[in-house]
Amino acid sequence: MTADTHTRDSVEGANLSDRPSPTTHPGIAEFVAETAALTKPERVQWVTGSPEEWTELTDALVATGTFTRLNPALKPNSFYAASDPIDVARVEDRTYICSVDEKDCGPTNNWMDPQEMKTLMRGLYDGCMRGRTMYVVPFVMGHLEAEKPMFGVEITDSAYVVVSMLVMARSGTHVLKRIEELEAAGESPQWVPALHSVGMPLEPGQADVAWPCNETKYIVQFPEERAIWSFGSGYGGNALLGKKCYALRIASVMARDEGWLAEHMLILKLTSPQGVVKFIAAAFPSACGKTNLAMLRPTIPGWKVETLGDDIAWMRVGEDGRLWAVNPEYGFFGVAPGTNQKTNPNAMDTIDKGNSVFTNVALTEDGDIWWEGLENTPAKATSWKGEPWTPDSEELSSHPNSRYCTPIKQCDILAAEYDDPRGVPIDAILFGGRRRTTVPLVFEARDWTHGTFLGATLSSETTAAAVGQVGVVRRDPMAMLPFIGYNAGHYFNHWITVGKENDAAKLPKIFYVNWFRRDEDGGFLWPGFGENSRVLKWVVERMEGQADAVETPIGYVPTVDSLDVEGLDMTRDAVEAALAVDAEEWQAELPQIQEWFEKFGDDLPAVLWTELDGLRARLDVP
Ligand code: GDP
Ligand code: PGA
Ligand code: MN
Ligand code: MN
Repeated sequence: MTADTHTRDSVEGANLSDRPSPTTHPGIAEFVAETAALTKPERVQWVTGSPEEWTELTDALVATGTFTRLNPALKPNSFYAASDPIDVARVEDRTYICSVDEKDCGPTNNWMDPQEMKTLMRGLYDGCMRGRTMYVVPFVMGHLEAEKPMFGVEITDSAYVVVSMLVMARSGTHVLKRIEELEAAGESPQWVPALHSVGMPLEPGQADVAWPCNETKYIVQFPEERAIWSFGSGYGGNALLGKKCYALRIASVMARDEGWLAEHMLILKLTSPQGVVKFIAAAFPSACGKTNLAMLRPTIPGWKVETLGDDIAWMRVGEDGRLWAVNPEYGFFGVAPGTNQKTNPNAMDTIDKGNSVFTNVALTEDGDIWWEGLENTPAKATSWKGEPWTPDSEELSSHPNSRYCTPIKQCDILAAEYDDPRGVPIDAILFGGRRRTTVPLVFEARDWTHGTFLGATLSSETTAAAVGQVGVVRRDPMAMLPFIGYNAGHYFNHWITVGKENDAAKLPKIFYVNWFRRDEDGGFLWPGFGENSRVLKWVVERMEGQADAVETPIGYVPTVDSLDVEGLDMTRDAVEAALAVDAEEWQAELPQIQEWFEKFGDDLPAVLWTELDGLRARLDVP
């Protein structure tokens, strides 16, 4: 917020001006003072990150009914929350990129003039924290010891958000101290102001609700200013502003300007039985398998997976010409339904250690949580809507986008390199989506530009991670459709440029995967989860020049014999069906890709048209 926006005499409730500012950083002090003057909270609390503060916050959330403390013998220091049913997922139609010039936002984002948006939102923020505490959360995405730490300060009126931020991002006084030190040393560290309100002020005497929120929601990024304003929602992706808003939307703009990549990718470390280590990043749309792949337990003997991150990767070309990736986050915010000891034992072990928040799952009578797909179905539970639930109930016990929020440091298979600010050198990038048809289990791109084409045309069925229809195929470029903070045509060009300006031999090889292809009966053709290690093995063997592939119009697909299916209960026909490239299905994609590309007009890099022409020719379409 800029100083000219409103006057101090509008301060009500809190008398904040007579208190010493807890920070020596003038910009942060001003951000806090101006926000307090506008939003008029009852009190201001600077979040320290101490254990005592965690106890105080969680106790208070239990007292107000937002949290239910889970049985400490089963899930120590863990909490259950159920949201308002109107606040369960990211709201893409309420998400804006308010660039100064509309053209910079591009055809895939919502836009409003930044000044117009600010005027509108100042109206909403005016007095919006009345009766509440305004929390100030200093945080850093990535390492505090990074060469250029990526700081932020989130102001929020939600204790639920504070607790979640403490899990998901390195937050608290130690971060503020570092910002102040750097400032004092004249380094003017970069920090992103991020303002969040649930948008439900309390009038004197008005009782609070368990999940305050507002029907009116705005999730707004100001890319030039590197600022975030969020209003009306308490849901993770809308409210934990370090995650999607900063680490993807704002960071993608920084990355464009500074020549690096901010991507919606997991990062994993794979070790072969011979001890060969590969680092793999993978971009799948929300609720399409990142968290599961990041923590996969291989079913093939001798292979080992360790995890570095499950949602976001920041990648820079190093002095050695390789693409180095770090995970800027500090926790997992995972889709609960479907998670169990079989599909994701590592996630189960992580949450069983406690210190976690579960939102919109079911609560059992013994004070544990449950969701569809978890073992030990309870005879009775309380559904996420607060209603009695039994296995005979018609409604789901848990919202399909219910989530666990758990510290990454508790994950037994966290790779040691997670703590290295330099990150890890990526050997392969996987793009993938959720497609019932058309897209084979795995194939390899011809080169970086072709890989960029595969990313730019990535398609997937929509999921419950965003509000809206589920199961509709849409283009989701690089799994970043809701997260590219600028013109997607320029973003494709940025990817092409990274390929051009660097030694292609040292950049990661690009692959495309689809765990979700179905047979005629609607069943999955591929068992997925731990069995995906077989696909990772093929990827590694391709890079080592050891695995066969057939060249098809879309890229290099494994021969049936090159994929290790030993011990897998699958017929040869089924494996063939999973790998099949059907020319007719792909011909049907062409007009869709054409239409998608046309959206970008002159902003689409010409080489992507060339790639489409090449695909068309290889598919024998005149
Ligand atoms: P993320 O949102 O991209 O991190 O996706 P998750 O890993 O949380 O998975 C989202 C949903 O897809 C969950 O319900 C998973 O059970 C399911 N899923 C993940 N991996 C696979 C897979 O390999 N095969 C199948 N059939 N489902 C999967
Ligand atoms: P997801 O993360 O990718 O794990 O679903 C949350 C989101 O993208 O909304
Ligand atoms: Mn995500
Ligand atoms: Mn995930």
